[in-house]
Amino acid sequence: MTSKPYLTGHYTPVTDEITATGLTVEGNLPPELTGRLIRNSHNPKPGITPAHWFKGSGMVHGIRLREGRAEWYRNRWVHTPALDGAPYMTDKGPDLTASTAGTHVIEHGGRLLALCESNLPFELTADLETVGAYDFGGKLTSAMTAHPKEDPATGELHFFASSPFPPFLIHHVASPDGQVLQSQEVPGASAALKHDFAITEHYVVFLEGSVTFDMSEHSGIPYSWSDSQEARIGVMPRGAGGADKVRWFDILPGYGMHFANAYEDANGRIVVEGPTVGREGWQRSWNWWVGAPDRGAEPNSRSRTRRWTVDLTAGRVEEEQIDDLTVEFPTINEAYTGREHRYQYALSFPDDLGIGNHTLVKYDRRTGVRQLLPVGNGQLPSEAVFVQAAGATDEDAGYLLTVVSDLNANASKMLVLDASDLSVPPVATIHLPRRVPAMIHGSWIPDTAA
Ligand SMILES: [Fe+2]
Repeated sequence: MTSKPYLTGHYTPVTDEITATGLTVEGNLPPELTGRLIRNSHNPKPGITPAHWFKGSGMVHGIRLREGRAEWYRNRWVHTPALDGAPYMTDKGPDLTASTAGTHVIEHGGRLLALCESNLPFELTADLETVGAYDFGGKLTSAMTAHPKEDPATGELHFFASSPFPPFLIHHVASPDGQVLQSQEVPGASAALKHDFAITEHYVVFLEGSVTFDMSEHSGIPYSWSDSQEARIGVMPRGAGGADKVRWFDILPGYGMHFANAYEDANGRIVVEGPTVGREGWQRSWNWWVGAPDRGAEPNSRSRTRRWTVDLTAGRVEEEQIDDLTVEFPTINEAYTGREHRYQYALSFPDDLGIGNHTLVKYDRRTGVRQLLPVGNGQLPSEAVFVQAAGATDEDAGYLLTVVSDLNANASKMLVLDASDLSVPPVATIHLPRRVPAMIHGSWIPDTAA
């Protein structure tokens, strides 16, 4: 029997939980990088073959840095009821605690949370042990997106709950210390799949692409492409009563999995950017995600970065493709979340048109310069997480943190890159005690965040 592509190569799960201390470091690890890089991935237990990549149980991998040393690496499954086989659908409806918890991990209000968009968050200890499902003190009675956004100016956490059944979309805001301040049902939303969203200084931006709820899809993720599903951007003023003023704008068919950022430009227009796939790219990705035979090491999604510019006064949206690389996992300096950013980072995937190896990319949106860092054959870097250098004022003064799966050496390393110039050698390389599988999303949690 052919192994599912998401259980082979870079995606091969690890079979146990380990802790290793005193990691070997090449180069000079900046002392200011004191905290933990924590990343999440789908890592089913041995003997389990999920019907969809995204149904694999979540496993977090952490690397603890302190004042120039790499103190430990550890990996832990997120111990949810689903890890022990509890079903998501029950006689009483969805069990929001039966989560893979395998999409993202963030810190907010002093809590470390592993996220999956169809479930409640799962709280973890600083050492990655599972505490349990977290519902914001009973205030969250629905699922929570895996892509919340923290406003750098207010420290508030914006997030949403999306459901295939009414209410389709609820927007929440939590205070910096994790108290839910506001919850609003958003009118006009549909059952379209909503994975990510964005905030600006004054607005919340939702995307409904051409992928919607489909009960005939039996992989465990009941969504599929639909030509009859209108693709739309929803723009909602922030604050109390904002939901009553939400406006939805038609856009071209497509599906945007992630937003790099959104902001209001000098003319008050809302600019949103992120990689987007068309119908064929979505279908190729989906086929890979459900383990269809005869697929390559990764889907050829041709996921290209688009820009949508929403003119609220004129009531229209302009959109354009702004780059020709197949990219995903867009990141920025999150101090610019919701504000105009100059630099954006992404991971480029090999495709039938362009580059042949996985490549980290840095975009300078002001000059149009695109800098590429190929990592070599058999090597897959994770999403690059930006960490601002202490006292920095330049937007790209800082570090990019990535964990590389190296199939050649059957090993992994964490790279600390100079974000201001990807052409210079890594600032530091941390050798990890095992090959870490390809991962989804993660965060740098500085000690100052606790
Ligand atoms: Fe995501």
